[in-house]
Amino acid sequence: MSEENSQPQEEPLVKEKKSLKKYFVFGFFGLLIAFLAIPYAYTSNPKSCTLCHNMDKYYESWQKSSHTVAAKNCFDCHIEQGSVNLWVYRISFYREIYASIVGADLKPAGASVPGIDSCQRQGCHSLNRVSSASGDIKIDHRGHVTKADLSCIKCHPGAAHPNVGDIGNVVPARKMCKECHSARMNDCSFCHIKKHSETKGFVHE
Ligand code: HEC
Ligand code: HEC
Ligand code: HEC
Ligand code: HEC
Ligand code: HEC
Repeated sequence: MSEENSQPQEEPLVKEKKSLKKYFVFGFFGLLIAFLAIPYAYTSNPKSCTLCHNMDKYYESWQKSSHTVAAKNCFDCHIEQGSVNLWVYRISFYREIYASIVGADLKPAGASVPGIDSCQRQGCHSLNRVSSASGDIKIDHRGHVTKADLSCIKCHPGAAHPNVGDIGNVVPARKMCKECHSARMNDCSFCHIKKHSETKGFVHE
């Protein structure tokens, strides 16, 4: 008889344990979501990069560049492609939050200078480009990237931030062609499609 009595007494205890477990699971996922949401919020809004340190000139130059539409966030270019890399970057953003609290210095981590992969990903640039928009300059992109082993950035450093700090222009400076083609600099038609007869005697800097 005593057994029958004790059974209904035990049930609420089991229920309580179950709901405690539920709270625990909810609590855990709540914390996990908050843990991911904080760096997610910071790293998803390019404007937030200007909050703690002076990135204004990078932000503004990118806003004015033709890359605002194609590359909607800084990490479209500055992080190696792939969702794993993106989440590693997002979580390691806690370093910056921590550093801004304690006032520490940081070496750049995660954020990298854009490589060819970044420019060539799906829907962006092809290597088959062989002339300039003006139609004047012959420029075999595939040959220069694969045979001369030049990255896009070497010729177009200012793709997103033209002339900010030490960063160069969007289009290559002519003198960089000279590094490899010094012997051909007087052979105008080596690089130019249009006749530059009016510029007789012209010498590239
Ligand atoms: C919560 C404040 C905070 C925000 C927001 C923030 N940073 Fe930082 N970041 C820091 C601190 C603090 C440092 C270390 C001190 C420093 O180098 O100025 C740092 C350092 C860096 C560095 C290394 C600088 C160097 O050359 O040593 C890079 C690159 C960087 N941040 C990029 C970004 C980008 C991109 C964003 C936008 C997604 C961003 N930061 C947003 C606080 C922040
Ligand atoms: C279209 C691609 C692209 C986008 C989008 C972009 N950048 Fe850049 N960024 C570059 C390139 C290219 C360089 C120059 C690399 C070089 O020549 O050293 C650069 C350089 C930088 C540098 C200097 C790095 C160094 O080591 O000197 C900072 C800082 C920077 N970008 C911040 C940002 C921030 C912040 C954003 C978003 C507001 C952003 N970038 C968006 C392509 C991009
Ligand atoms: C050897 C230097 C060199 C390399 C490397 C190079 N380019 Fe170019 N690119 C040029 C030249 C020169 C032009 C013509 C610029 C002009 O219109 O005066 C050009 C033009 C362009 C244009 C057209 C720009 C416009 O406004 O008409 C795009 C886009 C471009 N390149 C993308 C790339 C990409 C992406 C890469 C890397 C895969 C790359 N380039 C590598 C030299 C280079
Ligand atoms: C790092 C060295 C290097 C630089 C810098 C360089 N080139 Fe070249 N260029 C090469 C090499 C290597 C070849 C041969 C590629 C091949 O065989 O396809 C070449 C070939 C060429 C050709 C001939 C392509 C053909 O179809 O025969 C032209 C035109 C040319 N480059 C223009 C330029 C211009 C314009 C610039 C500056 C914006 C430039 N190059 C910068 C290394 C360079
Ligand atoms: C190795 C490649 C190469 C050779 C050889 C070359 N150029 Fe150029 N030239 C370029 C590039 C790259 C530009 C820059 C295009 C741009 O800014 O859009 C340029 C620009 C120019 C411009 C425009 C200058 C300006 O400030 O707008 C003229 C004019 C010119 N070249 C004339 C010549 C003449 C004349 C020769 C022969 C004596 C010659 N080039 C030989 C690569 C070359």
